[in-house]
This record gives sequence, structure tokens and C-alpha cells, in this order.
Amino acid sequence: MQCSMWNIASFMLLGLFRTCYDFIVALWNIKCYNSDYSGGEVIMAKIIAVANQKGGVGKTTTCVNLAAALHISKKRVLLVDMDPQGHSSIGFGVNKHSEGKTAYDLIINSASPNEVIRKTPYGDLLPASTSLAAAEVELVSVNNRHYILRDALLSVADRYDYIIIDCPPSLGMLTINSLCAANSVIVPVDCGFYALEGLSALTTTMSTIKKGLNPELDIEGVLLTMFDSRTNLSVQIAQEIKRFFPKKVFSVTIPRNVRLAEAPSHGKPIMEYDKHSRGAECYMRLAAEICDNNSKEAL
Ligand SMILES: Nc1ncnc2c1ncn2[C@@H]1O[C@H](COP(=O)(O)OP(=O)(O)O)[C@@H](O)[C@H]1O
Ligand SMILES: [Mg+2]
Repeated sequence: MQCSMWNIASFMLLGLFRTCYDFIVALWNIKCYNSDYSGGEVIMAKIIAVANQKGGVGKTTTCVNLAAALHISKKRVLLVDMDPQGHSSIGFGVNKHSEGKTAYDLIINSASPNEVIRKTPYGDLLPASTSLAAAEVELVSVNNRHYILRDALLSVADRYDYIIIDCPPSLGMLTINSLCAANSVIVPVDCGFYALEGLSALTTTMSTIKKGLNPELDIEGVLLTMFDSRTNLSVQIAQEIKRFFPKKVFSVTIPRNVRLAEAPSHGKPIMEYDKHSRGAECYMRLAAEICDNNSKEAL
């Protein structure tokens, strides 16, 4: 009798120890998740999607050169190519027809990010291939379909300071997955005649996602691209966009620069192709502005 009482007591004591242990581990995990480098602890990457459903506004150019600029600034960077055209992959020197797993395997075949991510001289890359176009349709019947990219990136987020996602020129499932995975969005807007067209559709999609799927989603900034200070049109469009997004437009503006257009055909970011060009200088300034804004936010 005495023996079984003793057994029960020790069993309860063990249970109590186990609960305390789990509680301390949970507290520790929460602390690590929220803390920064200052304590020498884990920091989760800032995940930034670059989105605008309009094509040709400079999304890919921004992703490739911003990621490379952050890498040069000694930040740990992952560039995620979510566009089946694979232009970001090409911009980082990876041919979209090359062997190896891609974003399609991550999204549809449950490949782990470690199997897909490749090291490049400009930072890590999660490449895309044309097969990713099929994922747009295949995702429709998948459970938890909005959060597949988010869940995959969370498993590697402690290895990076910034994760930059290049979105396709549409508001389909791949863009929605990107916006659900992101903490914030950069919206590149070209300073051309149709610049404002479709911007309200993007802001509506973003606020719908913020309300329902990702309450954390914020605008990192609106980036004026292909700006030509010699034309009245560029100046007027820039003013209009600043009115449309008060206090959200980055102070750096990306000029129309032929070296930026040439760099992808060499499979290199602009800093590697022509580091003295205006394009390289402006993307370095953009990286600095983003790092600065995020360090202020962290204070
Ligand atoms: N600032 C710029 N100056 C000159 N050409 C640019 C600039 N930004 C992008 N381009 C070119 O414009 C085209 C579209 O840009 P891209 O980044 O692919 O847009 P998106 O990804 O939004 O479709 C590409 O040929 C690219 O090289
Ligand atoms: Mg693109």
C-alpha cells in the first residue's frame, strides 16, 4: 500500500517537473522569436514581398538588385522567385532550365527549403521554373493553400535577415501565398502613363489579405521606378503617387538606367555588372533606407 502511494507521489512529481520544463521551454522560444541580435539570440528574417500585378514595373529588377545590395551590406539574404518566368533566378545567374528542385517542388511536392535553396555569389536563391505556372491551378485543391510558402519560409527564417519575394504579375494564388508569407510589401510603380492603373486593385487585395489572412501585413514602401527627371510626365506621376500613398513612398527613386536593363542578360545584379552606374548607386541607397527604417522600427 505504502509502496503504491509512493509510486503515485513520484508520478505526480514527475508530471509537475515535466509541466514546468515545457513552460520554461515555451517561454524561451517566445523570447528568442521576439528578440534581436543585441542579446546574441535568434532573429527572424523580415520577409518582404515585391508586388504589383502590372507587368514591367521593375519588380524583378528591384528584387535582384535589392537582394544583392543587402548581401553586399553584409545582411543574410534569401531571394525567393515566385514568378514562373524565373527572371529573378536568371538575374542571380541561375538558368530556369537548370537541374534541381525549384519553388514548384516546395509549393506542390512538399520539398523542404533546404532541398531547393541554392547558394550564389549574390546571396541565397530559391529559384523558379516555368513549371511553377501549374502550381497556380494545382493549389486550388490544396488544404491550407494560402500558407504553404509562409510555413516553408518560417522554417528557415532564423537563418536570414531579409527574405525578398518576387511576385508574378497577377493577383492569383502565388501572389496571395507571397502576401500571406510576408511581413511587408514593396510596391514598385513605374513613372509612366498607366502607373496608377490597377494600383487600387492591389491595395484592395492587400487590405483583404490583412483583414482575413495576414493581419501583420504592412506596406514597406512604394518605390518609384524608371523615373526620368527630364520629362514632365515622370514628375507629375511621381507627385500623383505621393498623393495616393502619403508618407509611404521611399525617398530614393530608381531612374531609367540602361545598365539596369542590360545586367540580367549577363546573369548578374547591377552591383556586379556595373557598380559605378546610377542604377547600382540607387539600389544600394534603397537597401540602406530599408535597413535604416527597420532598425528604427526595432527600437
Ligand atoms: N530602372 C530601369 N531602367 C531601365 N530599364 C529597367 C529599369 N527597371 C527595369 N527595367 C527593365 O524593364 C523591363 C521590366 O522590368 P522587370 O523588373 O522585369 O519588371 P516586372 O518584374 O515588374 O515585370 C526589363 O527589361 C528590365 O530590365
Ligand atoms: Mg518580374
